[in-house]
Amino acid sequence: MFHPLRVSEVERLTDDSVAVTLTVPAGLREAFRHTPGQHIAVRRTGAHGEEIRRTYSICSPAAQAGEEGALRVGIRLVDGGEFSSYALKELSAGDTLEVMRPTGRFVLEPRAGRFAAVVGGSGITPVLSIAATLLAREPEARFCLVRSDRTAASTMFLEDVADLKDRYPDRFQLVTVLSREEQQTGLPSGRLDEARLTDLLPALLDVPEVDGWFLCGPYGLVQGAERALRGLGVERSRIHEEIFHVDDVPAPAPVAAPAHSRLTATLDGRSGSWPVEEGESLLDTVLRARSDAPYACKGGVCGTCRAFLVSGEVRMDRNFALEQEETEAGYVLACQSHPLTSEVELDFDR
Ligand code: FES
Repeated sequence: MFHPLRVSEVERLTDDSVAVTLTVPAGLREAFRHTPGQHIAVRRTGAHGEEIRRTYSICSPAAQAGEEGALRVGIRLVDGGEFSSYALKELSAGDTLEVMRPTGRFVLEPRAGRFAAVVGGSGITPVLSIAATLLAREPEARFCLVRSDRTAASTMFLEDVADLKDRYPDRFQLVTVLSREEQQTGLPSGRLDEARLTDLLPALLDVPEVDGWFLCGPYGLVQGAERALRGLGVERSRIHEEIFHVDDVPAPAPVAAPAHSRLTATLDGRSGSWPVEEGESLLDTVLRARSDAPYACKGGVCGTCRAFLVSGEVRMDRNFALEQEETEAGYVLACQSHPLTSEVELDFDR
């Protein structure tokens, strides 16, 4: 369900990005309290009357019960991106955005320990919330951030990250790698890839001692960082990933689906049953009858359409949102699922 929230500030971060702060009315404060790392879905009507939905990560630290807290998201301009160009060119304080409550499982509930992140570009956004909340709430926690961007001028949240460094000099470690610019730190320029991270990470910190790794950014960077960490002996369960751009992923092969499938789905306590039309995802089947079905990206990235597979079998085209434990527990992304059996049942409420 979407709620209208007032924009209180639009702050220019770089030439191609802004931070948007939203005011959450007192009555919605509990619903909009986020766990560090989560995102929100926003929607607006496009130029041709179509509905556009996007998800944006929250960069502000999480509030504690009773605290007011801010809801601030980072938005970077995407080539041809209708929502991001609207946000950069038109959106201003006083406007209203329709927003869903925060969701997402790329999260860290503050706890004592050592944590680290490898981020690229706008992938800093959820990690900023994670690091700022952790360091403020847990005096024993440490955080190491390895970030990469093209140039210093294109780096989002430069000041917010510098503030963390000033405030927690002993517990916050920052390494910035610029791919197209010489740096003064002695680090060579160039992309962060598997080989480079395999050398760099053990030089920075005691890799086996890190309790949780947070990888966020373009597909290639996240995959390279995961391979580097696995190669350094890090267990999969300690690695959390969020992919921001999946343009470089090959298209999935077509599905061999049964001729006629029927989907039964439960959503907000109400169930319905509908035939699945050829080639459509199970989310689209539900959406034909229930416009309140949850989704944002329809690309397998945000996880908003997560549902529990009660019975039957499905095949997902791609999944960049669910952790292995979730798929093993029976969760699927409805926007990526196609039936492999003649009857399929999903529960969006579990
Ligand atoms: S709507 Fe984003 S993963 Fe399905």
